[in-house]
Amino acid sequence: MIDKQKVVIITGASRGIGKAVAQKFLSEGFCVVGVSRSRPKCQLSHHIKADITKDEDRKNIIQHVISEFGRVDILINNAGIGIYDTWEDMDINQLREVFEVDFFAPVHLTKLALPYIKKAKGTIINISSAAGELSVPYESGYTAAKHAFHAFSETLRMELNHYGVNVITVTAGNIKTGFTLSAKGSKHPPLLPFAGKRKELAEEIYKAYIKKKDKVIYPGWYRIFMFYSKIFPKGYEKIIMRIWERSFEKREEKINSQKKEAIFNSSGSFLSIKKGSEPE
Ligand SMILES: NC(=O)c1ccc[n+]([C@@H]2O[C@H](COP(=O)([O-])OP(=O)(O)OC[C@H]3O[C@@H](n4cnc5c(N)ncnc54)[C@H](OP(=O)(O)O)[C@@H]3O)[C@@H](O)[C@H]2O)c1
Repeated sequence: MIDKQKVVIITGASRGIGKAVAQKFLSEGFCVVGVSRSRPKCQLSHHIKADITKDEDRKNIIQHVISEFGRVDILINNAGIGIYDTWEDMDINQLREVFEVDFFAPVHLTKLALPYIKKAKGTIINISSAAGELSVPYESGYTAAKHAFHAFSETLRMELNHYGVNVITVTAGNIKTGFTLSAKGSKHPPLLPFAGKRKELAEEIYKAYIKKKDKVIYPGWYRIFMFYSKIFPKGYEKIIMRIWERSFEKREEKINSQKKEAIFNSSGSFLSIKKGSEPE
């Protein structure tokens, strides 16, 4: 029965991490209301088509859920976008868009949902990022937005604790989704080895919810990275710059070799080189 189920609102449920988390809560018997601009390719209890950067859409999400289900037990602020560029090349309007999605939209949605979450002694789950705790080159815009969101989440917990509301901050490292590819900008980061799996992250988030934990850090090895960055900040800066620069060099080499191949392919005589014989 819907009216006895706990109601979860999750933004960005159409794909990626949001989809995996929505599926986990659904499988545990929750009423899961997913929010996104596009139709999700997965089963949900209810979908609200909304752009969370629009004030009226945010108000509509909460009003709609209350009129339909009468309660909000859990708000999962998951929707997010990235931007990767040198600060010099950063487009300020794109940066504003990132802050709208990654910071202003979730903090306003939280404000709107708060009276109902307090009533339910519920939970707010904020999907932050390792970029919310670390400084990452060519990610100044995304890192700044996630640092702001991370700080909001950690402060909110202190304010809401005595109302019986728990706030979980999720520090997600590199997770296999389409996030990086769909990000704005031109200096996309390398895909680090040992990337996390969204289903495993969803399990960790659910466990943290059940055990009323404050934080989730996934994949766990990011703890070492974060610890190292605090103890040896200069060493961290050198290592991370080296990894990023090397990945850009490799990408450049790959593009150049693809260009050469394309030139060869456009000429019959050059094609023969590709086949391993000398050009005539
Ligand atoms: N993947 C990673 O490596 C990683 C690492 C750390 C943290 N994170 C964080 O995890 C969260 C989810 O990332 P992901 O990897 O799952 O990304 P994703 O696969 O690109 O999914 C992003 C989701 O956000 C929704 N969304 C984006 N803009 C929206 C808007 N204006 N209104 C409503 N929904 C919007 C998208 O739905 P529509 O396009 O249909 O609206 C989509 O469902 C983000 O906050 C991200 O910062 C990801």
